[in-house]
Amino acid sequence: MTLIQKFKQENIFTEEFIKLLHKKMLDDVWSWAGSFRRSNKNIGGHWTKVGVDLKGLLDDTNYWVENETYPQDELAIRFKHRLVNIHCFPNGNGRHSRLMADIIMGSIFKKPLFTWGKENLVGKSKTREHYISAIRLGDKGDISPLIEFARN
Ligand SMILES: Nc1ncnc2c1ncn2[C@@H]1O[C@H](COP(=O)(O)OP(=O)(O)OP(=O)(O)O)[C@@H](O)[C@H]1O
Ligand SMILES: [Mg+2]
Repeated sequence: MTLIQKFKQENIFTEEFIKLLHKKMLDDVWSWAGSFRRSNKNIGGHWTKVGVDLKGLLDDTNYWVENETYPQDELAIRFKHRLVNIHCFPNGNGRHSRLMADIIMGSIFKKPLFTWGKENLVGKSKTREHYISAIRLGDKGDISPLIEFARN
């Protein structure tokens, strides 16, 4: 049995799960799916920091769940926002981070998944612009537009 089959908190918030999910999602598209980046991008810190930055996020999120630091929606979206900004992989970080937020809602909190603007976010669209502007506001410290977007 793989970790993907056992969607439990102690499995979900591990580097192994993060990589395995990316691999399962995108293996058909990219042979390197599931491997951390080894070069620098416009988003995210130096590539050598991906593993430690992710460890910090996973530790923080475990603490938030245990201590109910944030409402459930906010916790999942804060996780998603930080995950995409670490930018673990060369590509596919957006799709992966949105699915991770849904896994947190569904598997940890047993609540309905997000709608993510009810549209395909990959192409150019008003919805995509709305999504990116909500990410940018999150970068400035206001997470509520991204929560609102994900729920509407
Ligand atoms: N200015 C920006 N333009 C595009 N993406 C941005 C920007 N700022 C932050 N991001 C984040 O980076 C993600 C895109 O990263 P990446 O290309 O690795 O993932 P993706 O799965 O291909 O993207 P997506 O599914 O969102 O199109 C976006 O989903 C968004 O969360
Ligand atoms: Mg991309």
